[in-house]
Amino acid sequence: MNPALPSLLSDALARLLDGVPRRELATAAASMSAGYRAGATSKAIVTPADALAYAVARMPATYAACAAVFARLAEVMPDFAPASLLDVGAGTGAASWAAQTQWPGVRAILLDHNPALRNLARKLAEAGLDAEILSGDLGADKPQADLVVASYVLAEFPQASAAATARHLWASGASVLVLIEPGTPDGFARIRAARAALIEDGAHVAAPCTHDNVCPMTGDDWCHFSQRLPRSRDHMLLKGASVPFEDERYSYVAVTGQKVAQGARILAPVLETKPGLTFKLCDETGLRAAFVAARDKDETRRLRKSGWGDLF
Ligand SMILES: C[S@@+](CC[C@H](N)C(=O)[O-])C[C@H]1O[C@@H](n2cnc3c(N)ncnc32)[C@H](O)[C@@H]1O
Repeated sequence: MNPALPSLLSDALARLLDGVPRRELATAAASMSAGYRAGATSKAIVTPADALAYAVARMPATYAACAAVFARLAEVMPDFAPASLLDVGAGTGAASWAAQTQWPGVRAILLDHNPALRNLARKLAEAGLDAEILSGDLGADKPQADLVVASYVLAEFPQASAAATARHLWASGASVLVLIEPGTPDGFARIRAARAALIEDGAHVAAPCTHDNVCPMTGDDWCHFSQRLPRSRDHMLLKGASVPFEDERYSYVAVTGQKVAQGARILAPVLETKPGLTFKLCDETGLRAAFVAARDKDETRRLRKSGWGDLF
């Protein structure tokens, strides 16, 4: 799985950025970040420059998170080959691009109520996304699809409505529903509430959990994963960044209609010390710390190939 934007998409974005004063973009990005920090939603994205600033500042990271989640889903459901995708709250289309990279045959429908983001999504899609772009509210009637994705969308609603929004999306009849949120305590709280509601409504978790039991996370721990991705020069400029990569933390849940049999998932970076490898696992028995002694060469070799987020 390559976390970088596909070249067709990054080239299209570069063409759209050609001639746009970077100061204008930086101002738009700064006011968007300030808005997000103050609890505002993407409603603050109004002008074409705002939308471009979102695409530069956030689309590579949301794309990378979606790509990682879809790769996990494909790992546990290798026969799942969606013909149609409904990308709700699609923004500039990151989830749809990632889905078409994972499942090249999937036709995407992007639904969003923000005209500036929709217009940019349409221009980017012309570069090679098989997609239809619709204006609409995700709470209203929607087209049916095999795969429904809401990527970084639950955060747009009050915290308490995550479960109801997830239920509403699951009721649309998809084979698989994927919800992705920032990998923060609040983002995870939304995923956890959504997960519990979806299981109550008969769904089974395909990933990241290997079971449908009550989530065993307690205290101030939260289930999240991380994706390292390269930063473009424009991204570094907009973010005032000094390193050419960023780590996108995300929480997610993918549910489906049938039980998906699996083992355990590694929930944190594997820690290597002289005596051996220590790692955190989650499975149907709950959360546990596991240890593989360095003298167990075969198991150590196997574990070295695995990492945070992998099945064990
Ligand atoms: C943070 S952006 C995420 C965009 C994209 N999914 C991504 O991962 O980059 C949230 C998106 O949800 C859209 N949105 C929020 N509420 C919506 C609603 N009720 N109906 C349709 N779209 C909505 C916003 O317009 C925005 O494009």
